This record gives sequence, structure tokens and C-alpha cells, in this order.
Amino acid sequence: MEQKEQWSSKIGFILASAGSAIGLGAIWKLPYVTGMSGGGAFILLFVLLSLLIGFPLLLAEFIIGRSTQKEAISAYKQIAPGSKWHWIGYLGVITCFILLSFYSVIGGWIIQYIVFCLTGKVGGGNTDYEMLFMESVTNPLLSVGAQALFMIITIMVVGKGIQTGIEKASKFMMPALFILFIVLIIRSLTLENAMEGVSFLFNPDFSKLNSESILFALGQSFFLLSVGVSVMVTYSSYLPKGDSIVQPAFSVVTMNLFISIFAGLAIFPAVFSLGFEPTAGPGLLFIVLPSVFEKMVLGTIFLLIFLVLFLFATLTSAFSLLEIVVASVSKGRGGRNRLSWIIGILVFVVGIPSALSFGIWSEISIFEKSIFDAADYLVSNILMPVGALLISIFVSYRMQKSILKNELIQKTKYSFLFEVWYFLLRYIVPLVIIVVFLDVTGII
Ligand code: PHE
Repeated sequence: MEQKEQWSSKIGFILASAGSAIGLGAIWKLPYVTGMSGGGAFILLFVLLSLLIGFPLLLAEFIIGRSTQKEAISAYKQIAPGSKWHWIGYLGVITCFILLSFYSVIGGWIIQYIVFCLTGKVGGGNTDYEMLFMESVTNPLLSVGAQALFMIITIMVVGKGIQTGIEKASKFMMPALFILFIVLIIRSLTLENAMEGVSFLFNPDFSKLNSESILFALGQSFFLLSVGVSVMVTYSSYLPKGDSIVQPAFSVVTMNLFISIFAGLAIFPAVFSLGFEPTAGPGLLFIVLPSVFEKMVLGTIFLLIFLVLFLFATLTSAFSLLEIVVASVSKGRGGRNRLSWIIGILVFVVGIPSALSFGIWSEISIFEKSIFDAADYLVSNILMPVGALLISIFVSYRMQKSILKNELIQKTKYSFLFEVWYFLLRYIVPLVIIVVFLDVTGII
């Protein structure tokens, strides 16, 4: 039996967990919705949801992992032996497998764009990014090749293990991500008319907050914090038993919030200042933003900075997605490197149809969605909420209250906060998830 792997430091654990949380959600999904859904009002809502829903769930996953010191599936088995609760672990592992299969497609696009920058294919003031984007996502060889490259980097890091792989990479990538963001924000905010973008992002307009945006924010609060799929169970199982989990959880939530706001601040002032219209999703990051940078002095360098930080954000999320699957198969028995390759290649193969669904397989539809969109819908709107619901129920109804209290706080002066957390997890979180779930699946 190998010695159990552990994070070498608390900061390593925090950065790796924040790295898992900060990804496409914060940089791609959120900024646009914020601008369209009442700016400051939406940010306020999102802060509230992160604290009332995301944070309690994150703590719940941390308790399961740190108290058992086991990866996602074994952890549930240890707490509830002989029951079916460990299916939550299987659900999480399967969800992460599928999620990584299409997450890596976007990772591949980022790599393609980085290569375009480095080889001088873009820049010079006359690149047609709409065309370039279409060319790169529809070209089967390019998109699958780039996706493979993204998976290879992920596999190599996860294969190296917790301390020398994931922790080391996160300790470099996360601070770098912050610094690159600051550079971009300064550039963006010092452009002419930058304030227009700032007000698009922040101006609180409560009238734009409708049930749709509220429900969207709720649904995204799991995705954005990587909760509901037991990734955080696995990550916290590498934490020494005596370490506090409240402060790390709080740090992860705040870092995630900051980066979401940073992303908006880097993107919108530049977009408005150079006379572009913000659009949603891939269009914003792969067509509008590069076109904006192209109009700036030294634009290619700023585009490259943005792409690198975007790549770091997606990679650190991908590490956690592959890690939970690898850990659940290896169960601490070693052979991590080989398993990372086997599982990583499987993920890649399963993800190929998603990559092709923008080009030669775009005709294929599942429930009127492309393969990529269908996989995203399944994960974000069905598997993650179900997982989050089961985790909140498991921890608050199946685990003993006295044990939870012991796990969360040793000092009695925090007793009151414990009760608040317990109440949220037991009543509010499940209720909210059920309402959102019924809504997005069209049942109500
Ligand atoms: N939180 C990641 C993002 O925002 C996605 C993710 C979800 C990663 C669940 C791991 C587990 O991109």
C-alpha cells in the first residue's frame, strides 16, 4: 500500500480548489449574463446565492472528504456502509467524466487560438475572427487534435499526483491567472469610454432581474463552484485531519466571486470602448474579444495574455475533473500515472463527438440539441442539481449532527453559525434545488 497522498500546504489545497471552481463558468458564462440581467443587481444576487447555497454545499463536500480521508465513492461507503448512498459518488464520477469530455473541446479551441497568435496567423488589424472561429471549430482534424493536446496536458499533470502534479501546477497557474487579469483590467479600464462597459456590468437595474435570470444564477451557482459532483470530496480527502475547512471554503467562494467580476471588468470596458456589441457564449470570447484586441496597440499581446489566463483557468478545472475519476478507480492503490492515461484517453474518445458536433456532425441532434449542447444540458441542468440535492440530504439527514458539529467547528463560540449552516443545508438548499430543477426541465 502506498502512503496516502496529501496536499503539502493549506494554500496549495485552497489554490487547487479555487482552480477547480474558476473556469468556463466564471470567465465565459457569467459576465455576459451579468451584463444582460441587471448588472449590479445580478452581482448582488450571485453573491447571495454563493453564500447561501454554494458555500454550505462546499462545506458539506469538504466534511465528507476530510473526515473520511477517502475519494468520492469510498467516502460515502465509509459513512453509510451497506447502503446505496455511495451511488452519489458514482453519479459524481460519471458526471465529471462527461463534463470533461466536452470541457476539453473548449480547451482545444483556446489552444488553437494561442497557436494562431504565436504563428502570426492573427493580428495586423484585418483578421476576420468570425471566419477564423468557424474554420477552427468546424475543421475535424484541428479541433480533435487540439482537444487531444488539452487532454494530454491534463493527463500529465494528474498523472504526477497531488503534490507534484495538481498542487504544483495550481500554485503557479492561479497566481499567474490573477496577475494576467490585473494587466488586462488595467488595459481595459484605461481605454476611452471604458465607463460605458463598467456601467453595463455594474449599474444595478433590479427591473431586469426576472425569474429566468434568478433561476439561471441558481443553476450556475453549482457549476461555478464545482459542487454537486463530489470533486470537492476527493480534493478535501487529501487534507490532513486536523485542518480547518471553513476558512478554505470561504476563500474559494470569494476568489471565485472576484474572478467572475474581474472577467467582466476585463471584457466589457474594452468591448464598449471599441464600439462592439457584447454577445453571449463562444461568440463573446472567440469572436468579439479578439476583434476588440485587434484594434488596440499591441493587441496580439493582450489577446495572448487573455488566452493564456483562459487556458490556465480551464486546465485547473480539468485537473479536478480527471482527478476524481482517477482517484475513484485507483482508491489509493497506486498506478496513478497509468490510470490517468487510460482514463484520460477514454474521456478524449468520448469527447470526440462533441468536438465534431460543431462541424461534420452538426446535423446530428439529440432532443433537438447538438451533441455538445446535449451533453452540457445533461450535466449542468440534470446531473449536477441532482448530485447537489443528494449531497445536501446525505449530509444533513444521514450524518449525525454531533459529528458534523465536531467536524466543522471545535470552538463553541461558532455554535450559532453552525446552526445557520445546518438549517440552510437541511431546508433551504434542497428546496431551492427542487424548484430550479423543476423549472429548467420544464416540469413547472
Ligand atoms: N467550476 C468549473 C467552471 O466554472 C466547472 C466544474 C464543475 C469543474 C464541476 C469541476 C467540477 O468552469
